[in-house]
Amino acid sequence: MHDLLTLPKAELHLHIEGTLEPELVFALARRNRLTVPFADVEALRTAYRFDDLVSFLDLYYACMDVLRTEEDFADLVTDYARRAAAQGVRHVEMFFDPQAHTSRGIPLDVVMAGLTEGIRRASALHDLSAGLIACFLRDRPVEEAHSTLDALAGHVDSLLGIGLDSAEVGYPPSLFTEVYRDARQMGLRLVAHAGEEGPPSYVWEAIDELGVDRVDHGVRVMEDSALVQRLQSDRMPLTLCPLSNVRLRVLPDLSFHPMQAMLSAGLVVTVNSDDPAYFGGYAGDNFVALAEDLPLGQDDFVLMARNSFDASFIDDDRRRELM
Ligand code: HPA
Ligand code: ZN
Repeated sequence: MHDLLTLPKAELHLHIEGTLEPELVFALARRNRLTVPFADVEALRTAYRFDDLVSFLDLYYACMDVLRTEEDFADLVTDYARRAAAQGVRHVEMFFDPQAHTSRGIPLDVVMAGLTEGIRRASALHDLSAGLIACFLRDRPVEEAHSTLDALAGHVDSLLGIGLDSAEVGYPPSLFTEVYRDARQMGLRLVAHAGEEGPPSYVWEAIDELGVDRVDHGVRVMEDSALVQRLQSDRMPLTLCPLSNVRLRVLPDLSFHPMQAMLSAGLVVTVNSDDPAYFGGYAGDNFVALAEDLPLGQDDFVLMARNSFDASFIDDDRRRELM
């Protein structure tokens, strides 16, 4: 087995709803007496092909309709945890999309109870710690993000922080400046997707207006040398997702990935899986794919794995255990 597959690592960019494998879609549909508009697992897996971020999001939101009960959310986490632990993931900070569930009638309490129970089971079964980051859907009204944050206030002890995801272009981070200010006052950590399909100006807004602790993706930052300089001097972590960028056609193939240039520029880069069920690989698979397609050395991978622990919001006791 490739040692990069099992190299100990933290995963900092993982949408738990994006770990929904076709087998689990069908199993949960059966349990909840729902019909899936695909003939079988293979037909659904074949549909996991995308032209861009929005074409992926259409299927991503459709599939998560099978998630109905606490037990469904708990099973989603334990299935992911088994796969991640087998690929060296020792700590994960998982995104979830509260509005994608509340908007279809699933109460936030059900989502939170299921996810936290899944984390409890996963950490009992594996050498894996985990935390939750609630993401706002940037393509829904800003007022809804405010009311979602109000609802999350009742669960603040179960959260590490907040993030921003969904369709990026046309929805700049600055729309959410007040939401982020309020979340900071609640003691939450702040991250945001920026510079995946959107321009470098969105990354400037994420750091200067939202005040993020990490930038999610940022694969386009190399287009702006002043931005690279700023990220380097701030030691701002970037959570890159190589296989996602290829599957969503942000890059023609992995040989175009700017990882080497980012490392040479002294950026704090990490390797993550984003939506592994949809994009063809978990965290370790992303390390292996980079090694196959880019002239990176073992030292680079060891550095990226160390960055993942350094850039995490892990507590001090667990950090000492892991590093
Ligand atoms: N980008 C934006 N939103 C998302 C993604 C992504 O890669 N995955 C799930 N929601
Ligand atoms: Zn993402």
